Amino acid sequence: MASLDVSKARASFPALQSGFIFADNAGGSQAARGVVDRISDYLLNTNVQLGADYSVSVVSTERVASGPDVAVKLFNASSPSEIVYGSSSTLNLENLARGLEPTIEAGDEFIVTGEHEANTGPWKKLAARRGGVIKFWHPVPTSPNNPYSVATRIEDLLPLITVRTRIVAISACSNILGSIVPVKEVVQAVREDAAAKGAMNVEVSVDCVAYAPHRRIDVRDWDVDYCVFSWYKVYGPHCSAMYVRSKALQTSVTSIAHHFLPVGSTAYKLQPGGPGYELVYGTTGVLPYLISLVPPPTKVASSEDPTIAHLDAAFSAIAAHEQELLKPLLGFLTAPEQIERGVRIVGTEQIGLSRVPTVSFVVVGPKAKRSQDIVEVFDKKGRVGIRWGHFYAYTLIDHLEPKLDTTDGVVRISLVHYNTVEEVQRIVEILKEALL
Ligand SMILES: Cc1ncc(COP(=O)(O)O)c(C=O)c1O
Repeated sequence: MASLDVSKARASFPALQSGFIFADNAGGSQAARGVVDRISDYLLNTNVQLGADYSVSVVSTERVASGPDVAVKLFNASSPSEIVYGSSSTLNLENLARGLEPTIEAGDEFIVTGEHEANTGPWKKLAARRGGVIKFWHPVPTSPNNPYSVATRIEDLLPLITVRTRIVAISACSNILGSIVPVKEVVQAVREDAAAKGAMNVEVSVDCVAYAPHRRIDVRDWDVDYCVFSWYKVYGPHCSAMYVRSKALQTSVTSIAHHFLPVGSTAYKLQPGGPGYELVYGTTGVLPYLISLVPPPTKVASSEDPTIAHLDAAFSAIAAHEQELLKPLLGFLTAPEQIERGVRIVGTEQIGLSRVPTVSFVVVGPKAKRSQDIVEVFDKKGRVGIRWGHFYAYTLIDHLEPKLDTTDGVVRISLVHYNTVEEVQRIVEILKEALL
């Protein structure tokens, strides 16, 4: 397996040269230089309306159309006509719920996880508008020693499915817990169970926002209907892409675009108004950046898409490096003296490929500390960005037992492949002081 050249990766992000340690990447990553170059080139040279016959508009139209071509690869979708761009994943999912609304009947059931509200709130509001029913698939404790080390289990999901289940809305990775959900396995179990119970119109919506910077999405292999991620967390600009399976576009999704627009059975049904043109063009810099991280694989099966194989290799190298980042951080936070001190990981305690380097914790017990006070020590020192709070996974935090203060939430340190082991060591040094 090709390994990651971290110095080379870092060279694409001028802000990293300042020495500031960016460790709030689950909030938003740095944008790769190739992304920024495209945005500036678009605005400086081709900033006109799309669809006109004059030459500059022809170029702009082609540039913006190339966004979905790249998103297709990142989702491993079948066609650019399955891709929607929007200003955020929250808005894309809200628009999806609006587009599905006419097909929802009283009594239809929505299973949500209560993780980031983006893939929970739109379904709650839709259910409220149409007389639907919301059911929660909550994570449960998985460790006898830490009530906050929680994860979702398939055996808790299946009993929630009934003949009325319409939408199962899950996350591929939690932005708090850091654990990767085996989406393919979950969806397969859901579909088998739904078929056995006679639920004929179950659709699956997957939030990949916290997953996309760390692992390759594969909507076809996973067999999902809707999937979303935010480019600004994957080294791109502040916008989002959503995959809508072509079958769903034909059978479930109604258009929320202007009535006279010929959207056909394309994802334009869910794209009312133009997305930010320069941002969409900017996203085309993400794929070249990712595949620049490792050389192309030498052997690719003839049935395989070479770009997907290359992306796979890049994400394998990313995952391997990120495991090295996790070791000193999780090692420190789960050491006996820290457990004794009251430190509890909120999420998966184990280092391993089923985890990304988004690490959340609280400090409880007689020597409890507020999350904000721990982060304040970092802020006072300066030059390291980490954060505290519920990170919009309010329901998840609220559901933990013993209860946590939802406002104070957790301390979250979120790393990506451009972070270095030395940076993590520096974070651990400051943590030692903050936890005194
Ligand atoms: C897991 C997860 N889902 C959804 C979102 C919402 O993304 P956006 O800001 O693009 O609406 C976030 C943002 O932090 C997130 O972490």
